[in-house]
Amino acid sequence: MKPFIAFFLALPMLAQVRFVPSKKLWVLDTDRTSYVVGINEENSLQNVYWGKKLVRDDDLAPAHTAPEHASFDSRESMTNEEYPGWGGLRYNEPCVKVTLADGTRDLVLTYVSHDIRGDTLEIHTKDIRYALTVDLLYRVYAHSGIVEKRSVIRNRTGQPVVVESAQSGVWYVPAGEGYRLSYLNGRWAGETQLRREPVEPGKKVLESRRGNTSHFLNPWFALDYQGAADEEHGRVWFGAIGWSGNWKLVVEETPAQQVRVTGGLNDFDFGYLLKPGESLETPAFYGGFTDRGFGESSRIMHAFEREEILPDRARPHPRPVLYNSWEATTFDVNEAGQKQLADKAAKIGVELFVMDDGWFGQRNDDHAGLGDWTVNPQKFPNGLKGLIDYVNGLGMKFGLWVEPEMVNPNSDLYRAHPDWAMHFNDRPRSEARNQLILNMARDDVRDHIFTVLDKLVSENHIEFLKWDMNRHFGEPGWPEVAVAEQKQIWVKYVDNVYNIIDRLRAKHPGLEIESCSGGGGRVDLGILKRVDEVWTSDNTEAFDRLRIQEGFTQAYAPKVMMAWVTDVPNLNGRSTSLKYRFLVAMQGSLGIGSNLNHWMDADFALASRMVAIDKEIRATVQQGNLYRLFSPREGEFTANQYVAQDGKQTVLFAFLHSQQYLRRAPIVYLRGLDEHAVYRLKTIDDKLVGKLETASGAYLMNHGIELRLGGDFDGTLLILERVP
Ligand code: GLA
Repeated sequence: MKPFIAFFLALPMLAQVRFVPSKKLWVLDTDRTSYVVGINEENSLQNVYWGKKLVRDDDLAPAHTAPEHASFDSRESMTNEEYPGWGGLRYNEPCVKVTLADGTRDLVLTYVSHDIRGDTLEIHTKDIRYALTVDLLYRVYAHSGIVEKRSVIRNRTGQPVVVESAQSGVWYVPAGEGYRLSYLNGRWAGETQLRREPVEPGKKVLESRRGNTSHFLNPWFALDYQGAADEEHGRVWFGAIGWSGNWKLVVEETPAQQVRVTGGLNDFDFGYLLKPGESLETPAFYGGFTDRGFGESSRIMHAFEREEILPDRARPHPRPVLYNSWEATTFDVNEAGQKQLADKAAKIGVELFVMDDGWFGQRNDDHAGLGDWTVNPQKFPNGLKGLIDYVNGLGMKFGLWVEPEMVNPNSDLYRAHPDWAMHFNDRPRSEARNQLILNMARDDVRDHIFTVLDKLVSENHIEFLKWDMNRHFGEPGWPEVAVAEQKQIWVKYVDNVYNIIDRLRAKHPGLEIESCSGGGGRVDLGILKRVDEVWTSDNTEAFDRLRIQEGFTQAYAPKVMMAWVTDVPNLNGRSTSLKYRFLVAMQGSLGIGSNLNHWMDADFALASRMVAIDKEIRATVQQGNLYRLFSPREGEFTANQYVAQDGKQTVLFAFLHSQQYLRRAPIVYLRGLDEHAVYRLKTIDDKLVGKLETASGAYLMNHGIELRLGGDFDGTLLILERVP
């Protein structure tokens, strides 16, 4: 082809967010995907496309409502409406449902205007009659390949309006039957188990009604077509809601064989009152697409979180190696005992020493003290200063456990303010772990908690908080406000928790936070905007962790996955070697929770070596690309590989769960390497079959390597450095 012809055929560079007036279409492009919305002949918004990037606006047709096939299947419900109100002949899950002051329960939104500013699009819609408006807010994260949707529902009617459902948006995949849903399910001590099942006609509801994100289900989904995707191949559409309260994801296959996923605030017990002029903003709902399988969908999420979500997004850095006292001392903390642990933690290379529960009020067990966030003078006669100075003197940062949203009835706080606990008047107050939950929706409670935490952090050199939440909502009353406003508790609670964290961080820029809720009960993209890591699970048993971590990394970056090495036998009675426990924990952000007073010299020696290795590889693990090579759900073998962003280092973790006599471990084919580059291999033991000192990327990926793993719960680590 002659150069000048190529010039004429070349496609122009297009803005990431653009309106095509001739077709009334908005095109939202990331570097790898396109998302297209149009205005149809009813003047309503219609989704036109979501998938791999398109390159030519000329290819696109304007939006058209679907034809009515029968009186039972209305055009509205057969059309992929971008943000349907509940009104007219609509039968699919709506994005917004309201009751207006005159009793009208019918909302038909149509297009009014729009604004494009850089990577954002705002589409303004309004009911056909009432001054009830909804703004649809989109943001394109071009580099990560993610599109964000939110909505703002505004009452300009001059009368009160009750919002009965407020969703962030709905995602449509290409029409057709045969989709498969992946999601994360679990329980306390068994979070983020990956589940896959066919999408059938009707609805599958994933949700939390517990006030926080929950261990049971997590607000993330992935869809692939005909079960054809695996870690490496296949088209995957995925999304996640950024909300740490009651959320809902409805995966629906309609009578038109259209799969759609609606998500946002849970509408259970919702009834959100909007007074004239008030508005309600829904959480962010993020979505992405890849044609390179579940592995790539996870890598997209991980990079997105590192670059756009996490508090250190401007300058991402790996997490420090942490020690936590909980499993060693439980509530039995005191200055001498913590100093003894700190001495030992410092010796093995720990960088952040965290004192867990038990340091405050009359907290000798879980029956008392929550709410009284002042140091217990019997346990710490010198206040926290004595311990913190000591820990800092050992070269470690100091962190502290708090559970700010909670109160024990046996506490000074509860005695002073019994009305601050969530309750309905003259009804029982159900306790869980002997504690009640504060009504954080109240601004006075919010301000009190902020003041207490601010004082704690201002008066002491605390550089890290582990923020826990050890029960869910119960009797979610708010008798102090008008009945019509009481249900706002579900939303305002979360807003106020976010508000406290945001204010604390703004005032104490050096402060880092871990989100914990009895393990992984509050893990979502809403809290991850505000915290540096999360406590993955109270289950620290290494083999169970392999499955928890596999599910966790579907949606969340290894960097935020705090993983401790603890003592054995653990929870389920299983014993694994200290090396195995280290290898499992080093696949996320490494922590140690063992009782170091029980360790032998050999344990310290091994731990020091493993911590040193972790520091050598953590940038790759926490900020690199993860390839899940073998799943712990599928066989006797698990392997995960991480490749550094610059490709210079790659690490391979491999685990054999239980060996049948003489049965070989499978060949491991590495991924993500440069075929023509040469890598120097370093083993931490002698588990690599053959004396391979260097190998090309092609060899490692195509020929593969064999590992000599045997017995029960064996594991190894290979570190490969690219030869310059
Ligand atoms: C929760 C956390 C634990 C520990 C305890 C303290 O269960 O998940 O890690 O902090 O609370 O009471």
